[in-house]
Amino acid sequence: MELNINGINTKRILVLHGPNLNLLGTREPEIYGTLTLNEINETLHTRAKEWGVDEIDFLQSNFEGELVEAIQKARGRYDFILLNAAALTHYSIALRDAIAAIPVPVIEIHLSNIHKREEFRRQSVIAPVVMGQICGFGIDSYIAALEIAIRKLRKG
Ligand code: DQA
Repeated sequence: MELNINGINTKRILVLHGPNLNLLGTREPEIYGTLTLNEINETLHTRAKEWGVDEIDFLQSNFEGELVEAIQKARGRYDFILLNAAALTHYSIALRDAIAAIPVPVIEIHLSNIHKREEFRRQSVIAPVVMGQICGFGIDSYIAALEIAIRKLRKG
């Protein structure tokens, strides 16, 4: 939803993190790095404020249904969703259907390059219903997605 304050469009972004991303920092650091989820969120929050985002909210859940509900509720509330669906990426038709059901654009994010890992990670069932996918750059996958979302919103 866009507000207009003093002639400047304000933008709202929702960042969703899927299962096991609460363990970042200690979870397979050789793959996912050593930053904690809080550190990633803080960096995104700082960047978002620097880049003129009015509101950026974060949710991590280990539960598919909670993420489905967050996506459903994003309609009319947020302008963009940045989503690291974690393992759900590879099999959650419920998540895919939730994304397809709302008009809010979604950018798919992964810290690791899912295309050069195990075979089962190479498939993303959400890829066909998101705006695009950024993977393989660690925290920079999130930062790049944030920048793209802001650019798109500025053009809109
Ligand atoms: C991940 C990649 C997924 O395959 C994995 O299940 C995750 C994290 C990533 O950010 O690289 O939990 O989404």
